Amino acid sequence: MIKIENLRMEFEGGVTALDGINMEIQDGEFIALLGPSGCGKSTTLNCIAGLLDPTDGTIRSDEVDITNKAPKERNIGMVFQSYALYPHLRVIDNIAFPLKQKKVAREERYDRARKMAAKLQIEHLLDRKPTQLSGGQQQRVAMCRAMVKEPKILLFDEPMSNLDARLKIEIREVIKKLQAETRITSIIVTHDQEEAMAIADRIAILDNGRIQQFDTPFELYQHPVNLFVANFMGNPPMNFIDARLVKGEGGLCFLVDGQTVPVPPARAKALAGSLDREVKIGVRSHQMRPVEAHVAGAIHLKVQMVENLGKELLVQAQVGKNLIRISEEDTTKYAFYRGLADVKGEMGILLTDQINVFDSETKANVLMEQ
Ligand SMILES: Nc1ncnc2c1ncn2[C@@H]1O[C@H](COP(=O)(O)OP(=O)(O)O)[C@@H](O)[C@H]1O
Ligand SMILES: [Mg+2]
Repeated sequence: MIKIENLRMEFEGGVTALDGINMEIQDGEFIALLGPSGCGKSTTLNCIAGLLDPTDGTIRSDEVDITNKAPKERNIGMVFQSYALYPHLRVIDNIAFPLKQKKVAREERYDRARKMAAKLQIEHLLDRKPTQLSGGQQQRVAMCRAMVKEPKILLFDEPMSNLDARLKIEIREVIKKLQAETRITSIIVTHDQEEAMAIADRIAILDNGRIQQFDTPFELYQHPVNLFVANFMGNPPMNFIDARLVKGEGGLCFLVDGQTVPVPPARAKALAGSLDREVKIGVRSHQMRPVEAHVAGAIHLKVQMVENLGKELLVQAQVGKNLIRISEEDTTKYAFYRGLADVKGEMGILLTDQINVFDSETKANVLMEQ
């Protein structure tokens, strides 16, 4: 288990890179640190690896305080974005290098290096030099080198960033399979939410040196704690509709651009105490039902554009200042929406029980406030 408490990092020049990071990682878990460039992901990872000394806070591994231990005393394997292979060494010598440092006997070294290479399907490359390899192959060598000493913890810092889209998916599957097989506690840093969702058991979302939310991909997607997390997770991104909570004839309603529409029943109770509050309704493209404009209870929007994604249509429509993307499963309606888009005609949407509601000012998810 890794336990990080109140980790702070202040660099010279007054940059606060980490502003009190707290997290507990269970044995065998695969964790992703996700966030925009500069939010503190690499700094956190480097503190865990021992490459940086934090300004404050503690890092424990299995209850042992490792905050001030040298990197080589931590039993950690690390894979970087730049593969950082030794150019003058053959692939097999690169992989066996950490074992040489640990003074493992020559025969065992090569034996273990070969076995690790087999796992990552690069046995046929062992006699080459790194310059004779593709990017994906180099990253496999770097992964072999990180894993050959059977570390307790594996750290990956944006390992797929230099690879093309197809290789990214290939390497991410290799990493995921290997981790599932070995159950080595692993942390991957990425700015790609799709990658984090695909690979990790739990994701910590960072912004400005602070963890915004640390949870399973499902929870982050369904119940984001604030607008930052909501904006970061999911593709296409979550839509936001500016609204005020008002009392209507049938009960609690949203006032949206002059229209009064009922709050979905499953959300009414949690929002009952929020009358007159200015909010942003957070709604994913498939969390609303496209209908014709005259349907009762529907929000009216002006259709701007329609995209045919093959399995569904993505209709872009506007209400007030908000541009919304709506999933339409019935692809035969393409011409219909094209027609509406040409004249900026109206369509309707019915909100479902799955919507989230955020306070416009504090940016917090109103449904998760208590
Ligand atoms: N050695 C350093 N000296 C000063 N500032 C640094 C140093 N390393 C990182 N930073 C700053 O700390 C912040 C976090 O950096 P980093 O952890 O590398 O972000 P990320 O990996 O999320 O992109 C950034 O503002 C960055 O400019
Ligand atoms: Mg980084």
